[in-house]
Amino acid sequence: MIKKVTLSDLNKIYKIEKRIFKSDSFSRKLLQNLINSNSLFLKIVVSKKAEDIIGYVILIKDDDHRFNLINFIIRKKYQNKGYGSLLMQKTLNIVNNHTEINKIILNVKTTNLKAIKLYKKFGFEIIERIEDYYRHNESAYLMELKI
Ligand SMILES: CC(C)(COP(=O)(O)OP(=O)(O)OC[C@H]1O[C@@H](n2cnc3c(N)ncnc32)[C@H](O)[C@@H]1OP(=O)(O)O)[C@@H](O)C(=O)NCCC(=O)NCCS
Repeated sequence: MIKKVTLSDLNKIYKIEKRIFKSDSFSRKLLQNLINSNSLFLKIVVSKKAEDIIGYVILIKDDDHRFNLINFIIRKKYQNKGYGSLLMQKTLNIVNNHTEINKIILNVKTTNLKAIKLYKKFGFEIIERIEDYYRHNESAYLMELKI
């Protein structure tokens, strides 16, 4: 089940964020601002109970015609079971209802083969390699999906 993230999810989302991205994680304040803004901040849950968050995705509209997917996480114990694909499919269905949107972009570490594979499966293409995009000289791919 896919639902909008609300402020009551903040603590749990922050905990997941820290566990997965460690020192690279978004701050609590940033997550709070993203929940309060009109970003597309969606969670996937196993049941109606908030404690059962499997993962989440955050997209911000950074241009009149574009969403930027800035975060996408499935909790470790739920990975490789198809939940990431399910969350991406539902997200794209929702984005398709925004008729003004003609593309989604995202940045991903060039070493994150699993995420890159998933994005490609949904039609994202690598547009550019950006050297030293992340800390510790890690490079990124800029990927784009035309809608
Ligand atoms: C990337 C992520 C969201 C994927 O979620 P998921 O629920 O595991 O994804 P799915 O189960 O739907 O699909 C995983 C796919 O990766 C494949 N895969 C698994 N391990 C892999 C690896 N080491 N290299 C390449 N592909 C791999 C699986 O075979 C599967 O492919 P399929 O759809 O063709 O069967 C999840 O791994 C995650 O949260 N990672 C940590 C956070 C992160 O890196 N987010 C992306 C930031 S840009």
